[in-house]
Amino acid sequence: MKDGYNRKINYLRISITDLCNLRCRYCMPEEGVEKLTHKEVLSIEEILEVAGESVKLGITKVRITGGEPLVRKGILSLIKGLADIPEIQDIAMTTNGILLKKYGKALKEAGLNRVNISIDSLDPGRYRKITRGGEISQVLEGIEEAMKVGLKPIKLNTVIIGDENEEDIQPLVDLTRKWEIDVRFIELMPIGEASNWSKEHFLSNEEIYQRIEGLIPVKRESGSPATYYRFLDGKGRVGFINPVSNHFCGDCNRLRLTFDGKLKPCLHSSQEIDLIPALRQGQGSLEELLEFATLQKPEKHCMDSDEYEILVRNMSEIGG
Ligand code: 5AD
Ligand code: SF4
Repeated sequence: MKDGYNRKINYLRISITDLCNLRCRYCMPEEGVEKLTHKEVLSIEEILEVAGESVKLGITKVRITGGEPLVRKGILSLIKGLADIPEIQDIAMTTNGILLKKYGKALKEAGLNRVNISIDSLDPGRYRKITRGGEISQVLEGIEEAMKVGLKPIKLNTVIIGDENEEDIQPLVDLTRKWEIDVRFIELMPIGEASNWSKEHFLSNEEIYQRIEGLIPVKRESGSPATYYRFLDGKGRVGFINPVSNHFCGDCNRLRLTFDGKLKPCLHSSQEIDLIPALRQGQGSLEELLEFATLQKPEKHCMDSDEYEILVRNMSEIGG
């Protein structure tokens, strides 16, 4: 269905947990987040119920996010359940890749189509520092497994933090020369853990782009928040996503479902619509609530203006 600004909403992002096996500095507090009780988190069946209703409104694409979705028990039955909904044509996942070597094949067999993998450094020391203990070799094995089993197209998402991993820009973009994958730079957003970081940590994509030689523009895809380039000898693409300095709200096609059963019309607003009463007490209809959330989508966010409200949730709870 269309929202109040004539945008066609066909994409549902589902965050299935706020837990993660890493502790990236901009995303999670060092001690992690408190584990919620079973009851506070949507069950796999409840998530499938919402997804099943959402297709009535025209949802055809679903992305599973976290936290880290692969730490959630039941992930394979969730993917199987989504694959059994005929209207859903594309099932994707955003993961840190640590567990992909282990689950890649089973995920593909369950019906997952593709993965985006978050990777901020190829250097073992810097990766360990940013993620507070992660092993980059596991992620690289995960990427190879994803390529092997055909979870593609594969996209790598990178956040560059000034004074932390600027040296990784070149080695990361060089991956697109040998592999048919996209490497995309996502501007660090001043939200959650990073909300009070000092200015020098925030690099604009323009600054990152200027540091890479030999990029040629690629035609813009509709519905993608990224602007893409490639190298002449490149197999994959280099993309830039500017959540702060560029509004891509005009093409926004998505709704978000959180692990605790709330619909978020917009990533950058604290408005949430609680589905729990409809799911558990039969109060109200899910379809109507989905419709309501769609109509509540704001025209655009105002993250670079003074009106921007500090987000209540950390990124790990929303899933990017
Ligand atoms: N700014 C930009 N990206 C972020 N992510 C998490 N927190 C932030 C932030 N403050 C990204 C992760 C991952 C995706 C799920 O969200 O790096 O790629
Ligand atoms: Fe985990 Fe992703 Fe947050 Fe890193 S950015 S702590 S991998 S959820």
